[in-house]
Amino acid sequence: MTDTDEISLVGVFDSGLGGLSVVRALQERLPSTSFVYFGDTARFPYGTKSPATIRRYSLENTSFLLSKGAQVVVIGCNTATSVALDTVRKKFSVPIFGVIEPAAKKAASVTKIGRIGVIGTTRTIKSQSYKKAITRLLPEADVFSLATPLLVTLIEDGSPSQHITRQIVREYVRPLKNQNIDTLLLGCTHYSLLGTLLQEEIGEHVTIIDPAQTSAEALVDSLFFTSQEHPKNHFFASDDPTRFKKVGELFLGVKMGAVSKGGPS
Ligand code: DGL
Repeated sequence: MTDTDEISLVGVFDSGLGGLSVVRALQERLPSTSFVYFGDTARFPYGTKSPATIRRYSLENTSFLLSKGAQVVVIGCNTATSVALDTVRKKFSVPIFGVIEPAAKKAASVTKIGRIGVIGTTRTIKSQSYKKAITRLLPEADVFSLATPLLVTLIEDGSPSQHITRQIVREYVRPLKNQNIDTLLLGCTHYSLLGTLLQEEIGEHVTIIDPAQTSAEALVDSLFFTSQEHPKNHFFASDDPTRFKKVGELFLGVKMGAVSKGGPS
C-alpha cells in the first residue's frame, strides 16, 4: 500500500477498553470509515508488564488486526506505544500509528510556562517516552511525570464516577498541583473517561491534553480514507465480551453492536 491509497478499515488495539477513546475520536472525524478493534482484556493490564512481554503482545495484536483486514493500525495504548512502536513498525509494512508523539507535540505547543504534568501507567512513566518527546520539542520544559496505575483498574471495572475514584484522583494530582503545571497530559487512553473529573481536581486553569484526540488528528491528517455508505465496525475482546460491551459503550458514547470473543491464538 502507498501513502495515497484510500483506507476503508482502520485497526485499533489496547489492553482493554481505553483504546475505544481513540476509536471514538476517530469516528467523530471519519464517520464513513469502518473500524476493527481488539481489547486484550484477557492479558490486561499492560502497564505492569515487562517491555519484552508488551512487545510480544503488540506484535500479536497487530497481526490479529491485519488478519481481519485492517489497512492501518493504531496502537491505542500509551504503554504499548512507549515500548513497542518501533518494533511493530519494523515488522509490518502497513502504516502503524502510536499515541505519544502527537500528544507530546500538542503539549509542547500549548504550554505557556513550560510546566507540563504527565500521568500514565507505571511502564509508560518508567519509559520516559513523554518526557523525551516533549523535551526534544521544547528543551527548556519541566516535565513532571507521575504513575497513576490505580485509575486504569477503576475504569476497566466500570466505576469511573464513584466517590472513591474522585478521592484517588485528588490524591494523585496533588503533587502535580504543587508543581504549578499549566498543562496535563493524560498519558493513558483509559483516562479519557476521567477527563471531567481530572479537570475539576487539577483546576480549570490547566489545559488537559488527551492523546485520543491528538492521535486521531494525526491519523486523519496523514492518510486518505474511503467514504463508505454503510461503514461496519467489529469489536473483539480476548475475555468476556458482555462486560466489555457494557463498559465499552461508556467510552464510545454510542451502542457498539455485537462484541466477539477473539484475539491472537
Ligand atoms: N490504556 C493503556 C495505556 O494507554 C494502559 C492500560 C494498561 O495498563 O493495560 O497505557
